[in-house]
Amino acid sequence: MMNKLSKWMQKKDGSVEENDKQADNIPQHVAIIMDGNGRWARRKGLPRVAGHRAGMKTVIEITRAADEKGVKVLTLYAFSTENWKRPLEEVDFLMRLPGQFLASELDELMDRNVQVRMVGSEENLPSFTVEAVRRAQERTANNTGLILNFALNYGSRTEIVKAIQDIAGKVADGAFSVSDIDESMIHDHLETKNLPDPDLLIRTSGELRLSNFMLWQLAYSELWFTDVYWPDFSQEHFNEAIAAYQQRSRRYGALT
Ligand code: IPE
Ligand code: IPE
Ligand code: MG
Repeated sequence: MMNKLSKWMQKKDGSVEENDKQADNIPQHVAIIMDGNGRWARRKGLPRVAGHRAGMKTVIEITRAADEKGVKVLTLYAFSTENWKRPLEEVDFLMRLPGQFLASELDELMDRNVQVRMVGSEENLPSFTVEAVRRAQERTANNTGLILNFALNYGSRTEIVKAIQDIAGKVADGAFSVSDIDESMIHDHLETKNLPDPDLLIRTSGELRLSNFMLWQLAYSELWFTDVYWPDFSQEHFNEAIAAYQQRSRRYGALT
């Protein structure tokens, strides 16, 4: 039973305010464009890859934060289809991170009942990356808590092209007609078909763009940007983003 007092929160000055709004209205799906690892490293006079290593620690910290807030899905943009343009050594380093992350954190993810998933194409990924993620997906498949969804070799335009090809193929086969195509059919042909659209998108590092991330799914998401580089992004920053989200009025074009 809910403790009646938990509806109230004591502020620093001793006054008490109703806490309902903060307890409720937690975004179900939070998506994060984890950006700024390279600049974080450069600022410290370190190689870019040191920023990626530091960013890996932020991943577990923010997974814990999301779990503790009661978020249902946390999608983390880890590698875009455009990131192949980077130097080979950096790409290689990035491809090894999922395996390292999962080797050190999978036990905690199991304890937290977290289910690991991935969106993005396995094609072109090294086999050690694919296998590490697959093993984690298999081991956590029956977990029922937070869904930790890695966007790895993910690009929204590629995803949309594939969806159109699938749908067009089915029309050509006579499975359905052009006039049957609607928003829900498109949703069902995206890689996120089993997930709700993100309620909140966070991007770190001060860049104000989507960089080919979930263009369809973000149609009505609330956007929150911070100048903080990803390795410095903390549970406090995450909670700040959630609090900002809770103040937003999502109108979806209507009047409220
Ligand atoms: C984000 O940090 C990680 C990936 C894109 C893989 P960056 O590597 O983009 O860092 P900046 O933007 O160069 O600082
Ligand atoms: C977006 O960051 C991709 C990921 C965070 C994985 P980038 O650093 O690649 O984006 P741009 O190049 O600044 O748009
Ligand atoms: Mg970047």
